[in-house]
Amino acid sequence: MEPNKETRNPMMRRPVVKEELVEYMRTKQKQLTGELGVIEEEAHRENVPVIPHETVVFLQFLLGQLKPKNILEVGAAIGFSSSLMAETIGADGHVTTIDRFDVMIRKAKETYKRLELENRVTLLEGDAVDILSTLPKDEYDFVFMDSAKSKYIVFLPEILRVLKKGGVLMVDDIFQGGTIVEDVKDIKRNQRAIHRGLNKFLDTVLTHPDLTSTLVPLGDGIILITKEKDEIVLLENE
Ligand SMILES: C[S@@+](CC[C@H](N)C(=O)[O-])C[C@H]1O[C@@H](n2cnc3c(N)ncnc32)[C@H](O)[C@@H]1O
Repeated sequence: MEPNKETRNPMMRRPVVKEELVEYMRTKQKQLTGELGVIEEEAHRENVPVIPHETVVFLQFLLGQLKPKNILEVGAAIGFSSSLMAETIGADGHVTTIDRFDVMIRKAKETYKRLELENRVTLLEGDAVDILSTLPKDEYDFVFMDSAKSKYIVFLPEILRVLKKGGVLMVDDIFQGGTIVEDVKDIKRNQRAIHRGLNKFLDTVLTHPDLTSTLVPLGDGIILITKEKDEIVLLENE
């Protein structure tokens, strides 16, 4: 499959912990069984950007504890993580996911069909910039954001509007192979928008008084954010 712009980002999918530990996390933790396991293997073989296995296991554990009923994802790709979430929360729950890339949309639909999840996953086709504002307020108890990294800061106000109070926002690929801490001058020109956008996003959520956040060095870095109030006001300069 032809990679799209996001999949060509060289910083993506660069684990930020020691290689041997990454290998340990990927091989020693439980593997996926059944058709979803086959889809995970196919994605890795074809270099499709799906969440790495350590994030799969983390997500299963987290959702098992949080037991969300209504999940939103930004960035469906081939529908792997949305299917994983739908299978993990069970038939009482629902996952809505968004993607704008026609090749991925076609593959995602095939995935949901293969896994018989068509009634439990809704795929919204288009740019999240346009779609997020059409979603109802306080609708979701868990949001997984895994899309264009420079846009996380742009999506944030709408994500916080649709997330319920007490709900959790999980965001993937936030460390950019560890380069997030480097000075922007040392970042390649074509990576600077992502670098600036991600830094702005992290500064905003990590310092906001009504958000509780924790950074987790899994894959290329994850942040978990809890919305502590009904309304989250983001300051102009955030
Ligand atoms: C890393 S992949 C998602 C992988 C998926 N979550 C998984 O693990 O199975 C990122 C996806 O986000 C989509 N994407 C990026 N920016 C987007 C936007 N602004 N609106 C909608 N989709 C977007 C891309 O087309 C791509 O398929």
